[in-house]
This record gives sequence, C-alpha cells and structure tokens, in this order.
Amino acid sequence: MKRSKLKLMGCSSWSADGSPAPPLEERVGERRPFGRGNQAWRGASLPWLLLLGLLSSFGPSTAAESTREFVPGEIWRDTDGNPINAHGGGVLRHEGVYYWYGESKTGRTYLPDANKSWGGTRVDFSGVSCYTSTNLHDWKREGIVLAPVAGDESRDLAASQVVERPKVIFNRTTKQFVMWMHIDSANYAAARAGVAVSAAPAGPFKYLGSFRPNAGVWPENASAEDRVPARTNHLARDFEAGQMARDSTLFVDDDGQAYHFYSSEENPTMHVSLLTPDYLRPAGKYRRIFIGRSMEAPAVFKRQGKYYFIGSGCTAWAPNPARCAVADSPWGPWRELGNPCVGEEADTTFRSQGTFVLEVAEAEPAFIFIADRWNQWDLADSRYVWLPLEFSAEGKPVIRHRERWSLMPTRRTAQAVGAGQGGR
Ligand code: DGJ
Repeated sequence: MKRSKLKLMGCSSWSADGSPAPPLEERVGERRPFGRGNQAWRGASLPWLLLLGLLSSFGPSTAAESTREFVPGEIWRDTDGNPINAHGGGVLRHEGVYYWYGESKTGRTYLPDANKSWGGTRVDFSGVSCYTSTNLHDWKREGIVLAPVAGDESRDLAASQVVERPKVIFNRTTKQFVMWMHIDSANYAAARAGVAVSAAPAGPFKYLGSFRPNAGVWPENASAEDRVPARTNHLARDFEAGQMARDSTLFVDDDGQAYHFYSSEENPTMHVSLLTPDYLRPAGKYRRIFIGRSMEAPAVFKRQGKYYFIGSGCTAWAPNPARCAVADSPWGPWRELGNPCVGEEADTTFRSQGTFVLEVAEAEPAFIFIADRWNQWDLADSRYVWLPLEFSAEGKPVIRHRERWSLMPTRRTAQAVGAGQGGR
C-alpha cells in the first residue's frame, strides 16, 4: 500500500488480545510429463522408469509426480471444488506436506472514507486459511486456522481490522509453528506485526498479540543523522514506540536463525530484523535496507549460498514492476538486480504482486514465484499467479509468464532413486 501521511497509533508492547537450468519452454506448459500420450516417456532411461514406478506404487503423491498443470490467473479450486481462498500467502513444507496459509477474503469489497485518496479498498477480516497438498496442485482445505474475533472492533482480529500476508515458520527447538502477519487498522495507520502459535501446522493458531518492532533500539546501520529527530525522519520519530511494520515476510536460514523483513518508516525503507530463538519477538538487532526505495510485498529465499529478495513498489492494489536483489547475508548489503520478470506485461509483474518464493522438493523448477492478481473492486475474486523462477547465467532471478506449466521430477532425484538412495 502507498502511505505517506499517517498518524502514529501503535505502541511497542503486545496488544491487549493478546548453473542455470535448461530453458523451461522445452519442458513446461507444452506437455504433461506424466500424462497419457506424453512424449517425454520416449527414450526414458532405466533410472527414470524406476523412479516413476516407485512413485506410483507407494504412499501419497509428491510434488515431483504431479500430473497437473498450473494455469496462472485462472480460478484455482480446492479438492472440494471451491475456489482456493488464501491470498497474500506463504507455503511451509513440513514432513513432506505443503501448507499454504493466506488471507481469507470473502464478502463485499468496500472503500472506507479514510482510504478514498489512495484507493484502499478492503473486505472484512474473515480469518487466515490453510490448505494442504503433497503435489502443490491439489489442495485440501483445512479451514480457518486463525479466526476473527467478534464483539470488540478495537481488537487486532476484529472484522474491521486489517490482517495481511500471514507467513508460518517451524521452530525446531520449541516444536511450535509460528505465524507472523501484518496487523493494521482499516486506514493502515497502526502498522504492527502480529504473532500467533500452534503446536500443529494445520492449527488452530493461538494469537499472542501485536507490537511495533524494535522499540527503543537503533538499527545497526543507523547514522548519527538518522538518530536526530526531524519532521521527515520516521525512524527517529518511532524510536521509542517501535518501528512501523506493514508488508512483511519471514526467512529461516540453514542455521535456524529467523529474520523478519518488513516495510517500515511509512514504507520507503525496509528493515531486516533478527528474531529471538523462539521466533516470537524481535531479538533487538536490525538493519535498514533498500533505504528510500519504497518496496513492499517482500519474499526472501536462498540458493547456492546466496540470499535473494523479490519485492514490489508501493502502489496499493495496483500492480507495478517487481524488483529483485541478491546478498551474501540476510543483513546485506543487498545489490539490486532490477525486474526479474521478462516479456509481455513484465512491467506489471504479469498483473500481479509477489507474496512468496517456494523452494520445491524433488521437482523442477526448483523455485516457484507466488503472486496475487488483486481484484481491487472484488478482492474475494483475486487470483493466484504461480510461475517458475529460473536463474540467468549471471545468477539473476528470471520469471517468464506461462499460460500453463507443470512440475517435472529432477534428474538428481531420479538418479538417487535408481542408485537405491531413496532421494531426500
Ligand atoms: C499493497 C500490499 O502489498 C497489500 O498487502 C495490501 O496492503 C494493499 N497494498 C492495500 O492497498
């Protein structure tokens, strides 16, 4: 969302309630890798046939054996035949199952008077939903895992409030599933981070409350000038009460350290903030990144030891060109690489806005860019745009639009199974 002149309303404490792949064109969207009459079967080597035989014989299906096609922008139905309702979402893989969490958007879209100047339409908050899948295509609805609360419109999870971009991570030490989300007032002035926990991935999640992150703490890279209060210095303005947190994401590194990336300082600057070992609070160490670049919709992932960021500009529900960046550490320095999207409609991220990058197990493409095609005047009819994320020879993320595409098993997995290692 685009915000510039909003009043500070938050406080810092918990709230009351608590080497590049071969071109995909050759492999996706033009044939069904496991379907009938599929030309890919011809000339298949013994390890491939062994793998396919094993996959069809045992247990639940996996991402690698999906026979389904992804059709970006089309209504995507769950296993009951209802449109999937999980917007601004993220996907967690846990014990071989994918969990897709997102904003439930139902009912009438309306434009609060306070948001008329910037087109901030909304629907009443109806919960965070969860779907499960083993092949990333067929999703079973698990229901609302974080429910709205009735009776007190001042509470974070009241229907009149904003709850956006939920992301869930698993804490290996506490064995808790931890959800962070953007909590806001209807006019997006509160700009807070909310946290909920569950002992099981499909919930229900217990809401712990919301706060402005990093109250009373300067970012590690704050200059002397940054610390001087000034009318336009939102970092210093919010020092005592905590920093604004709107669009956000979570990233867990291989060492188990988790980071919260959030649009702050009225949105022009993003922060990356370390979480406590239980993932429930900021650990008190953070940095300003993409200073003055006005980024939102952050998605962070790691590939071959490098950290990647994909975000959008700030134009409310209207799409804009995505941006990507690379770094050797979550702390940066982040080097911007421009728009990862190429081809027609790349300047609008194919009429969508990113929300997550999913690393896929045992399939190609290894990464999927997940985005929302927002319908500003009927938010419940917003669609999903899932696209393969590739890399150029120079290591830049590349996203091309596909009318339809499918996952393929990796050659690495096929060889591992053929050699009797059983994959990972
Ligand atoms: C853009 C953000 O990315 C969305 O999550 C939402 O906050 C809209 N702005 C609201 O206009």
